Amino acid sequence: MDKINIGLIGLGNIGTGVVKLLKQNEDLIAQKLGTKLVLKKIADIDIKTPRGLKINKNLLTTNAHEIINDKDISIVIELMGGYEPARTFVLEAIAQGKHIVTANKALLATYGNQIFPAAQKKAVDIGFEASVGGTIPIIKTLKESLVANKINSIMGIMNGTCNFILTKMTDEGNMFDEVLKEAQKLGFAEADPAFDIEGTDTAHKMAIILSLAYGKKVNLKDIYLEGITKISRDDIAFARELGYRIKLLAIAMLKNDAVEARIHPTMISSGHLLANVNRNYNAFHIVGDASGPVFLFGQGAGMMPTASAVFSDIIDTARNILKGITCRVPLRSISETAMTPIKLVPMDDIETKYYFRFSVLDRPGVLSKISGILGENNISIATVIQKARGEGGAVPIVMTTYKAQEKNVRQALKKIDKLNMVQDKTIIIRIEDELN
Ligand code: HSE
Repeated sequence: MDKINIGLIGLGNIGTGVVKLLKQNEDLIAQKLGTKLVLKKIADIDIKTPRGLKINKNLLTTNAHEIINDKDISIVIELMGGYEPARTFVLEAIAQGKHIVTANKALLATYGNQIFPAAQKKAVDIGFEASVGGTIPIIKTLKESLVANKINSIMGIMNGTCNFILTKMTDEGNMFDEVLKEAQKLGFAEADPAFDIEGTDTAHKMAIILSLAYGKKVNLKDIYLEGITKISRDDIAFARELGYRIKLLAIAMLKNDAVEARIHPTMISSGHLLANVNRNYNAFHIVGDASGPVFLFGQGAGMMPTASAVFSDIIDTARNILKGITCRVPLRSISETAMTPIKLVPMDDIETKYYFRFSVLDRPGVLSKISGILGENNISIATVIQKARGEGGAVPIVMTTYKAQEKNVRQALKKIDKLNMVQDKTIIIRIEDELN
C-alpha cells in the first residue's frame, strides 16, 4: 500500500494540532509507518477562520459526510467534541467500515456502551488515547502494558484546569475565579468550565479508565463525584500545616470483587509524587498486583500534546491496516460480548481518613460536644487545630481522623451541623496518606 487516507472532522484546537503535526513530522511518520499518511479531507462548520497554518482550500469542507462516505478514506478522526452530531457521525462512519480515532471523552463515557459494540460488530478499530490524560499513554498502558495485572488501584489527576487552579491557590495564594479565567485564556478549560471545576470532565475520563482497568461496563452516574468549587484558601493553608496538598483525585480501588470509584478533592502527603504534579499537568499512579506501582505523568491537554496522542492511534490503526488485521487488541481490553456491568462499592461503605473544618462559636464546651458526637459514631480523632480565640464570632476548629466509615461520618456531621454553636456547614475533605 503506497498510502493510507485519513479524514478529519473538527478543525478546532486539537484538530489544528493534528494538521500541524502531520506537516511537521510527515517524513518521520512515513518512515516509521513504512507508507504515507495522506490527510484527504477536513470538515468543520467554520472553514473561514485562519488557524495559523497553511491548509490547501481543496481539503476543506463543511460537510462531514464527504469524509464519512468517501470510499478512499480508511480512518476518520473525530475531534469535534460534544455528544451530537459527534455520536451520529461516529456511528455512521463505523457503519461505513471506517476506523475511528477520537479524543471525545464525553462521547465515549456516555455512549461507549453503544459505540464500542457497534465497532466490534463491524470489525473496525477505535483509538481513543487522546480522550484521557492528553499526551499520556494511559489507555495503551491499561489495555496492553498492564494487561496481565489485577489493577489494585488507580489514583489520577485527570483535569488540568482543576490542577492549575489548586496549584495557583496553593503556591501563589491566588483566588479561585481569577485562576479559572487564566486557565480559560491558556486554552485547557472546557467550553463550559463547570465541566472542569464540578468534576464532570474527570468523571468522563474515569468512566473510560474503569472500563479498561476492570473490563467492565460503567454507568457514568454511579461514580461518586465532588468538584473543587468548595475548596477555600483556608483549607489549603490547614492542609499545608498538616503536611498535605489538596488535589482533585479520581480514585479506583479494588475491594474483593467490587471497585471503589470516587472523585473528590483529596489531601495527600506533600512528599508523594501525585502531590508534586502541578499546574496543568496530569498524572496516573497505578498499582498492579504483579507490576507494583507505575507512575505516568504529562500534559493532559493542549494542542500539540493531545495531537501526539491522536497520532499514536492513527499510526496504530494504519499499522493494522497494512498488516490486514483489525481489532487485534480488543477495543476496551476484553471482547465487548464478555463485558458485564461493574460492581461498585457504595460510597457509604468506603473507609478513609477525614479532615473536618468546623465553623463554631468560641464558647466553652464546643470541642467536647463535637468530639462526643464523633465518638458516638465510631470516629476517632487524630489531630485538632484551633486557631486564635475570636471575639464572640465564628472560629475554625480543624480535626483529622483515623480511618472511619463514610456512613458514620455523614451521620455525625448531620448532628454536628444542627448544633446552635455551629455557624456553617462543616467542610469535609478526605485524606489518602497511605499511598505507596
Ligand atoms: N478541560 C480539560 C482539562 C481538557 O482541563 O484537563 C483536557 O481534557
